[in-house]
Amino acid sequence: MSDATTRTAAVIPAAGRGVRLGPGAPKALRALNGTPMLIHAVRAMAASRAVSLVVVVAPPDGAAEVKTLLADHALPERTDILVVPGGATRQESVKLGLDALPPGVDIVLVHDAARPLVPVDTVDGVIEAVRDGAVAVVPALPLADTVKEVAPVQDAAPGTPEPVVATPERSRLRAVQTPQGFDHDTLVRAHRTVTDDVTDDASMVEQLGLPVVLVPGHEEAFKVTRPLDLVLAEAVLARRRATDGF
Ligand code: C5P
Repeated sequence: MSDATTRTAAVIPAAGRGVRLGPGAPKALRALNGTPMLIHAVRAMAASRAVSLVVVVAPPDGAAEVKTLLADHALPERTDILVVPGGATRQESVKLGLDALPPGVDIVLVHDAARPLVPVDTVDGVIEAVRDGAVAVVPALPLADTVKEVAPVQDAAPGTPEPVVATPERSRLRAVQTPQGFDHDTLVRAHRTVTDDVTDDASMVEQLGLPVVLVPGHEEAFKVTRPLDLVLAEAVLARRRATDGF
């Protein structure tokens, strides 16, 4: 996919510590089959011919380390890469990444470093939907599990039974992934306007009252969060290597 009239950049927030994976290096720097998760994520964005710039948002004290890491791994020459230090929250890190974009970027993808294996077709599908006129596009999948809403018990010890308050109808729910794609000016406005703590960028656009649409996600775009996810990610990489030499 290439289109001389639009310029697409990807911002990768990679400044989280990833405490749920257990002790060790920041999550984005953990290796999957010998290659840091962040490198896989940068390659996943650069795999799209539409993406001409990737901005990596590094841990605040780790920008130099991330620059060295990027220099040590093969990445496509046609993609420019910038590294900026991140902030205390994901939202702040994304905003710092947006601030670093040069003029002329029309479409921005925001992609979690913690989703290293998203296939290029998913990335291109998101970009295409923004090009077709959507201001905010999110890849998503139906849920396998039924979801319960609970009333969290304040200061309860872990494992304390929690009262259920509702069961949303599963067929109306979707689990959302990244990269989320945006019209550049809309996302910048959302980050200037919305100050509530949010877990994804699209919800900020929703808070502006603008439409957000979902496109099909992919099971390989899962977020590496817990130790078992590392096992699954390495199995996906092994399968790719066996089937297409990737
Ligand atoms: O913690 P969570 O898994 O939701 O983080 C999602 C993404 O946001 C990760 O790629 C993480 O590195 C990034 N993040 C960040 N800055 C923070 C916290 C998280 O860039 N302060």
